[in-house]
Amino acid sequence: MPLDIVVGTQWGDEGKGRIVDLLAREAQFVARYSGGDNAGHTVAAQGRLLRLHLIPSGILHPEAICALGAGMVVNPARLVSEIDELESLGIGASPTRLKLSSSAHILTPSHLALDGAEEAGRGSREIGTTRRGIGPAYADKAARRGLRAGAMRDPEEFGRLVEEQVRAAGRLLEGLYDLPAPDPAEARRAYAGYAERLRPHLADVGALTAQALARGENVLAEGAQGTLLDLDHGTYPFVTSSHPTAPGALLGLGVGARHLRRVIGVTKAFQTRVGAGPFPTELFGADAERLRGSGANPWDEFGTTTGRPRRCGWLDGVLLRYASRLNGLTELALTKLDVLTGLEPLRVCRSYLFSGGEAFDPPPDPEDLAACTPLYDTLPGWTETIGGTRSWGDLPPAARAYVEAVERIPGVPIRWISVGPEREQVIRRGEPV
Ligand code: IMP
Repeated sequence: MPLDIVVGTQWGDEGKGRIVDLLAREAQFVARYSGGDNAGHTVAAQGRLLRLHLIPSGILHPEAICALGAGMVVNPARLVSEIDELESLGIGASPTRLKLSSSAHILTPSHLALDGAEEAGRGSREIGTTRRGIGPAYADKAARRGLRAGAMRDPEEFGRLVEEQVRAAGRLLEGLYDLPAPDPAEARRAYAGYAERLRPHLADVGALTAQALARGENVLAEGAQGTLLDLDHGTYPFVTSSHPTAPGALLGLGVGARHLRRVIGVTKAFQTRVGAGPFPTELFGADAERLRGSGANPWDEFGTTTGRPRRCGWLDGVLLRYASRLNGLTELALTKLDVLTGLEPLRVCRSYLFSGGEAFDPPPDPEDLAACTPLYDTLPGWTETIGGTRSWGDLPPAARAYVEAVERIPGVPIRWISVGPEREQVIRRGEPV
């Protein structure tokens, strides 16, 4: 009855979709458990690049049932358009394959408007959100006035509830922020329509997960965002409003811990971040540009959801060790190793200089990260192209040494290494745990 969880160990954008794509080949049930359409996976399908924001990338594997768990906030307009896009490519996302938890929360046009208004109100303390309404939707959930997907069973009543919510939030937008509010009647009409479309997908995702596990199927929990964006354990307040970590998967799906087999952490071979917040190993100028790429390729370091250039830096081993502890990682996948080709020398942050001493853990107050000076190990680089390499032994010795240096930091084996953007550009290393 194995449950495997894939989590990002950094600030998101680690390339989790690639690893999920590999693991989903052996999974019968694939589910997202937190966040909303602030996430974005670029996946190749039918010769096209498809951007999925809500639907698990497991949908590309026809055998797998896919689910959106209770821990998510769902923009129904986006979900309907993703279903339509998949179906136009001949990829079935019918209610028999795609399930939406009745307990997931629904995002409305007011949440989108409030996200922008709150960001503007923060001034220089702006978080740099994706402006997808995520924070305000989770705020309504925590305040126990949220709209749950289960309400879509009665589209007309659901439309009425949305209208009420949009009207109430409109008073806030107009009164407090002096901003135009979304039209409540229009929201009612649109949301009644989404409910009509989506209600056949409603399900008890916790029960479905338990049934799949009881049948002995492989269940894959597909993380979005990354550990350092976790609401409780990330670099607060520069975080998202959900729990992208492994414990968040159990809660977000509604499944117990005893089924857990593997927790697979995905880490990029260097560090990136979009949005504001401390980033000790950040690079600037030509070094950062070298890691970021020009933006000409879809895999360059520009946000899938917002198109913003990502901030880039050396791999932060202190934060990787922290992510390993927090998630209980059993193994790692290292992505984008090929991007380091030609860089000389390479650096990996092993500890921080903080408050006059050497620290191997991040400071308890994440805002103090800004005052940490990274202490680096320096490693030799390599110049050989590695995109065609498919076996560990064929990697240049310096590339192998880099991988080994990274896995020594958390003491967790690296089982997969991606060496290019294509599906098959992956090196598998050793036997799965
Ligand atoms: P929000 O989730 O839109 O509220 O944004 C909060 C913070 O999380 C911002 O710094 C975003 O850039 C970041 N963020 C949210 N989702 C992702 C993601 O999928 N990848 C990378 N960063 C993300």
